Amino acid sequence: MSKVTIIGAGFVGATAGQYIAMKNLADVVLIDINEGAAMGKALDLLQTGPITSHCSHLSGASGYEATANSDVVVITAGIPRKEGMSRDELLKINAGIVSSAAAQAVKFSPNAIFIVVTNPLDVMTQLTQQVTGLPSHRVIGMAGVLDSGRFQTFIAAELGISPVDVKAMVLGGHGDLMVPLLRHSSVNGIPALELIAEARLQELAVRTRDGGAEIVSYLKSGSAYYAPGASVAQMVETILQDQKRLLPCSVLATGQYGLNNVYVGLPVVLGRNGVERIVELPLESSELAALQKSAAAIAKNVATMNDLIGWGKAEVIEAKTAETAVVVLAAAPPAAVAESKEPVTK
Ligand SMILES: NC(=O)c1ccc[n+]([C@@H]2O[C@H](COP(=O)([O-])OP(=O)(O)OC[C@H]3O[C@@H](n4cnc5c(N)ncnc54)[C@H](O)[C@@H]3O)[C@@H](O)[C@H]2O)c1
Repeated sequence: MSKVTIIGAGFVGATAGQYIAMKNLADVVLIDINEGAAMGKALDLLQTGPITSHCSHLSGASGYEATANSDVVVITAGIPRKEGMSRDELLKINAGIVSSAAAQAVKFSPNAIFIVVTNPLDVMTQLTQQVTGLPSHRVIGMAGVLDSGRFQTFIAAELGISPVDVKAMVLGGHGDLMVPLLRHSSVNGIPALELIAEARLQELAVRTRDGGAEIVSYLKSGSAYYAPGASVAQMVETILQDQKRLLPCSVLATGQYGLNNVYVGLPVVLGRNGVERIVELPLESSELAALQKSAAAIAKNVATMNDLIGWGKAEVIEAKTAETAVVVLAAAPPAAVAESKEPVTK
């Protein structure tokens, strides 16, 4: 069996572990700073095996030795924003947690593919690639699968049809500037715009953009985890089974869509090597402008993070035209970061 490590045995991490086990995709190791939570949830999930007919082995730990030789490492560790905490404070704390987790995990699993989930998603994925030094096709962020799933759900509900028949793609950053592609949404091959008025489809796109906040408003504390966990499991399945599915993922742009050196949600072919290739869709100028604006916001946040964690200032060249690239000239992480077992920030 393949082996998947999930760092952060919280709501998203444990739920991802549950879906992975129930699909018999891999043995799962849950890692958490709270060792009891990792061990307890893993044992609980293990005991679902005879009931739901899966044979994945699950275990929990706080030390990274248990993660050795994983095929996939999923990073969900982090803290949520607390009352009175600024976005920059959260960015700095989660950067410390993610860089420490990534640095330790890659030592034990140098051949793994990393899937990052912790928010702010695109920035944390870029950080993971910088800290691990892995080729960018092996460090991928999960957001587009979730955001597209939300858009597909709302389209299906609007039409009163099965969500299985709805296809849609959401690109850009995982946040207020995500880019749901209306023209590329379809129902069994029929363009959604032929079935739903454009203004109404636009409303569904706005609900998609606010999809996470809508769930938080009901939950009061905590955020979504069932659909995020299922999205992680779909990416893991696609990778381990080399399915080469076309999915929107946060990946390092290397010139596509006029973007460069920034992690942002783009359509990719996902397989056993991670990102097999980035697909360039012909976008209308308004769609391309929205994607570039989204990428520029991520790049600025990466620059802020690099400054906050002491990697020095980074210059961001903003996208103003289709020809202008977004560039994050991030200073290389000091070697000590990759070696450190401690978070960069405490
Ligand atoms: N990318 C997406 O689409 C998406 C969707 C949902 C949630 N998220 C993000 O995923 C993250 C996890 O969400 P959650 O609801 O599971 O949160 P959670 O609080 O339930 O879980 C986080 C876990 O991380 C652990 N942790 C903290 N520091 C750690 C460390 N140094 N090493 C190991 N474990 C550590 C905590 O103990 C906790 O169990 C958050 O950042 C959230 O915003 C992203």
